[in-house]
Amino acid sequence: MKCRACGQKAVVNMRQHKLALCKEHYLEWIPEQTGRFIEKYKMFSHEEKVLVAVSGGKDSLSLWDILQRLGYQADGLYICLGIDEGLNYSAESQRLTGKFAAAHSLKLHIVDVQKEYGSTIPEFSLKSHRGRLKPCSVCGLVKRHVMNRVARDFGYDVLATGHNLDDEAAVLFGNTLSWAGEYMLRQGPVLHGNSGLARKVKPLCRIYEREMLAYALLRGIEYIYDECPFSVGSTSIYYKQLLNKLESDRPGAKQTFYLSFLEARRSGLFVERETIQAELHPCTNCGQPTSAPGLCSFCRMMSR
Ligand code: AMP
Ligand code: FES
Ligand code: ZN
Ligand code: ZN
Repeated sequence: MKCRACGQKAVVNMRQHKLALCKEHYLEWIPEQTGRFIEKYKMFSHEEKVLVAVSGGKDSLSLWDILQRLGYQADGLYICLGIDEGLNYSAESQRLTGKFAAAHSLKLHIVDVQKEYGSTIPEFSLKSHRGRLKPCSVCGLVKRHVMNRVARDFGYDVLATGHNLDDEAAVLFGNTLSWAGEYMLRQGPVLHGNSGLARKVKPLCRIYEREMLAYALLRGIEYIYDECPFSVGSTSIYYKQLLNKLESDRPGAKQTFYLSFLEARRSGLFVERETIQAELHPCTNCGQPTSAPGLCSFCRMMSR
């Protein structure tokens, strides 16, 4: 297999794009693609301040690397969740994120959930009516709150996460199985900001997970290999496996599933209800938008 750009030996073959590339051209192609998607979906400009949520995994570290290579102003945010029993998962993720930031002289905000909010994610879960809220639910709630807060407090225009095509296709698949219309209306490369909230973007949403893996490895980015211990056996991993089976029989199916959804929505398959945004109220404690008047779900959990 030869590189399409230079004819040298290819190291990555992407059946879904009918494209094979050598290391050098692959490491140029991924940022080019990402840059194209940032512009196509009007995610942000070179003048805007971007906050990248960095978990220490391959996707978000690579995203930070790519944004830097493309010349965007991108600072990082690492949220220490306190998931450490046995594995040192959070401590190791933080070490690798800090190492990357230092090596590239990038600014990194670190929020330690236990120090700032009194408990780690596993502790919050245990305290919530003896585990009624699973760690992943607490974690999602806390991460969303902290990301919004840091973006607002430090005046970032936009918050970028490392979700890739496999993540997005798995979420869409789950939402489609139950036709969760409200979620489907909000899922996409860009979620517009409102009432003090930064715009949220996913610059890697059209890049396959294995393409990101190849990028991280070929760039020599040190990332945490382990998955979060609480994600073992999760529905999203199961959906990813199903979609991978489909993809291996029909290369490109995953991308078609996601892109056709975006296109169908854009051309009016779903009628956007204008009331959705109007229905949001500021939380009486933290000011972030919430669907019912009073406390948001994060502050309700904290008050319990
Ligand atoms: P996940 O929800 O773990 O699949 O992560 C999706 C995205 O959320 C990652 O690509 C990061 O951009 C962001 N993220 C996840 N965990 C953290 C964390 N501990 N600190 C900062 N950002 C995170
Ligand atoms: Fe949040 Fe696993 S990363 S519970
Ligand atoms: Zn080449
Ligand atoms: Zn609140």
